[in-house]
Amino acid sequence: DKANYRHFMAKEIHEQPEVVGHTLARYIDMASERVMLPVKLPFDFKDIQRISITACGTASYAGYVAKYWFERLARIPVELDVASEFRYREAPLRKGDLAIFISQSGETADTLAALRYAKAEGVHTLSVVNVPTSTIARESETVLQTLAGPEIGVASTKAFTCQLMVLASLAVAAGKARGELSDEDETKLVHGLVEIPRLMAAALTLEPQIEKLARDISKSKDVLYLGRGTSYPLALEGALKLKEISYIHAEGYAAGELKHGPIALIDETMPVVVIAPYDRVFEKTVSNMQEVAARGGNIILMTDAKGAAEATVDSLVTIVLPDMASAFTPMVYAVPVQLLAYHTAVVMGTDVDQPRNLAKSVTVE
Ligand code: F6R
Repeated sequence: DKANYRHFMAKEIHEQPEVVGHTLARYIDMASERVMLPVKLPFDFKDIQRISITACGTASYAGYVAKYWFERLARIPVELDVASEFRYREAPLRKGDLAIFISQSGETADTLAALRYAKAEGVHTLSVVNVPTSTIARESETVLQTLAGPEIGVASTKAFTCQLMVLASLAVAAGKARGELSDEDETKLVHGLVEIPRLMAAALTLEPQIEKLARDISKSKDVLYLGRGTSYPLALEGALKLKEISYIHAEGYAAGELKHGPIALIDETMPVVVIAPYDRVFEKTVSNMQEVAARGGNIILMTDAKGAAEATVDSLVTIVLPDMASAFTPMVYAVPVQLLAYHTAVVMGTDVDQPRNLAKSVTVE
């Protein structure tokens, strides 16, 4: 049931600190501060030359974030595909490499077909699924479950952040196995992960500000989302979430791609949501923001206190998230991104939990 919430989506957004915490507890041993996978992997990360990650929609954006993590923490090249492309592209896979599939339902037709293709190619298959009895779970060599609980709202929220938690843990495990991370590195990263539920809860307290902002957004015809690094896939997710439930056209772009085309769209009528935690690419994103401001664009900046102090642009609205020491910002920044889409849809009066033309589980191609 919806508890005291108006929609399942609202309930599921608010449940995230709890369910991400449950997922964390399944993958991290709190006492030793080590990543501890609940299953034994049938391969050694040292032998993996390349990972391919395949999924659809929001799950593919979780995969896109994970690509950055695997490459950075474990130095494993990652190829990311949406399942509908992967399955027909007949991508050459090297026997013994690893293919990861991400799916909330575990029943998505394209993702399942991609899994079957990968199995036939002789690679190790690992799926990150929320429904352990699902077809994708049953047919995968290894299953890592997200403990999001049932997700009823058609727009995926808590499954996404739980997928990120599993993938972050797996990337740390991979970095450790390959000797890219020391014990000390691992402890530091685990501390970063353990903080996430608390930081997500802090992000939820921004809801009144976001609700107000949603009234402005609801008047727009188009919204642009920008991000760099792991905030780039989150920009894609923000745009998807907004369009699927509010029916406002939105696009996500890598901030650095702005000048290669989309900057032509900038005027005072199109809000630009910039996702920019104070991280190693922050300065670069700020310079893209200046380009937007110089063309009269209205900026909504999602950052932290440090970023808010350093951003030298007059932004329309700044949403200040808690400071974070780790590289795992997407789990926390997902919260304002989801809330913005949710409240915009509520203002628009759309059917938030059952948006038109969409199904929760896409079991046909
Ligand atoms: C977006 C959304 C979809 C799903 C996609 C994959 O909010 O819900 O994009 O993420 O259809 O579904 P699963 O994860 O069940 O494979």
